[in-house]
Amino acid sequence: MKRTVNLTRKESFAASHRLHSNELSDEENKKLFGKCNHIHGHGHNYGLDVTVRGEIDEKTGIVINLVDLKDIIHDVVMTKVDHRHLNLDVEEFKTMNPTTENLALVIWNWLDAAIGEELLYEVTVHETDKNSVTIHR
Ligand code: NI
Repeated sequence: MKRTVNLTRKESFAASHRLHSNELSDEENKKLFGKCNHIHGHGHNYGLDVTVRGEIDEKTGIVINLVDLKDIIHDVVMTKVDHRHLNLDVEEFKTMNPTTENLALVIWNWLDAAIGEELLYEVTVHETDKNSVTIHR
């Protein structure tokens, strides 16, 4: 019997950001985001969990080649965010507030385009050890 399993690859990246919504006044931003609104930004060591879901291939015993998954994550995520300032260097965040919620959404969209709905199941972005955002199909 074929079994469907979830397989997760963990990665990490360093990036800086400034929490600031263009929809709010400077005063409202300061009140809502506090020190995270500091004009020059601040950094995080982010964690990223990417989960694919699929049947175990009977011949190979795998769901996806982990080297392929690692390469896809590197190409579509790491090259865009690692050691970057999210507000300044990532096209999507020139207009969107780079909260962990929005970062998870943007990374989900990049990975969904590369991995596809047949396989991509869940993405979690850890901003700190205590805060994370998960999106799944
Ligand atoms: Ni922050």
